[in-house]
Amino acid sequence: MNTRKLFLSMVMIFGVSSFSYAYTTTELMNGIALGAILFTLVVIGIVCLVLLKTFKMMADMLLPKEVIAVAPIVSSEFILEPSKPKLTLWEKLLSLRPMSEEKDLIMEHEYDGIVELDNPTPAWFMWLFYGTIIFAFVYLLNYHVFKLGKLQDEEYVVEMKQADVAKKAFLAKSANRVDENSVKLTTDAEVLKAGSALFIQNCVACHGDHAQGIVGPNLTDEYWLHGSKIGDLFKTIKYGVPDKGMISWEKQLSPKQISEVANYIKSLKDTHPANPKAPQGDKET
Ligand code: HEC
Repeated sequence: MNTRKLFLSMVMIFGVSSFSYAYTTTELMNGIALGAILFTLVVIGIVCLVLLKTFKMMADMLLPKEVIAVAPIVSSEFILEPSKPKLTLWEKLLSLRPMSEEKDLIMEHEYDGIVELDNPTPAWFMWLFYGTIIFAFVYLLNYHVFKLGKLQDEEYVVEMKQADVAKKAFLAKSANRVDENSVKLTTDAEVLKAGSALFIQNCVACHGDHAQGIVGPNLTDEYWLHGSKIGDLFKTIKYGVPDKGMISWEKQLSPKQISEVANYIKSLKDTHPANPKAPQGDKET
């Protein structure tokens, strides 16, 4: 019985300490694994107990009566007394005593013939009750004394930070999923700065350092050969106009970079650079 108690309390303490821990997603997986191990241990423990009980019953049945009689634990009154009435599972669960023992349970007070039975609280309930006290104690130590676990506020801050990192990664990834249909017009300073750098690096040779036009057309006026909308610019830059000398940039620039340089070109409208190339294409407003 003592080893059983020890085993049960160990399971309880392990269970409690694993619950009072603050989980992130990976730690949650570890927690589940730990839970599975604990569950297995408990099952093994129950199986051991059942086996032990079975062995005991078999020994009682198989060993000759004389051996039992001389065994020191078994008193003579045990053999002489009639066997105790069998309890149902329900009675066992609720620690109920059989009806035949009721007279021993009656408490001393009596009111108009109404009496009270002194039934003990079931053991499992007491375990549950003491368990909550142990849990509260471990919880208090963990969160408020040693501050090992994170409280809600801290947990919130940590999770928001993680979400922020995940969001940045997602946006960086999705920025590259843009195409001529989904590209958005923006005046974001960072986008324009990146676009300007890309333009200086790749486009000035043909379009001029102020996009005034050399071989390629002036990109600051109102006249366009292939459309002036952000989607049109994206398309022209992406696929180029190979037979007219504007190469396709699909291979050299990422979709994100193409949208940056396209937005940069949009921002150059009406900048009126010196020596502009004569207008080409249709006037668009
Ligand atoms: C080798 C020279 C050359 C380079 C380098 C070049 N372009 Fe062009 N680009 C041209 C020519 C030529 C045209 C005109 C095509 C036509 O006549 O249809 C043009 C047209 C364009 C147009 C369409 C203009 C309109 O009127 O519709 C855009 C937008 C454009 N280029 C952007 C760029 C960008 C952005 C870069 C750098 C990433 C770039 N180009 C690099 C030669 C070039």
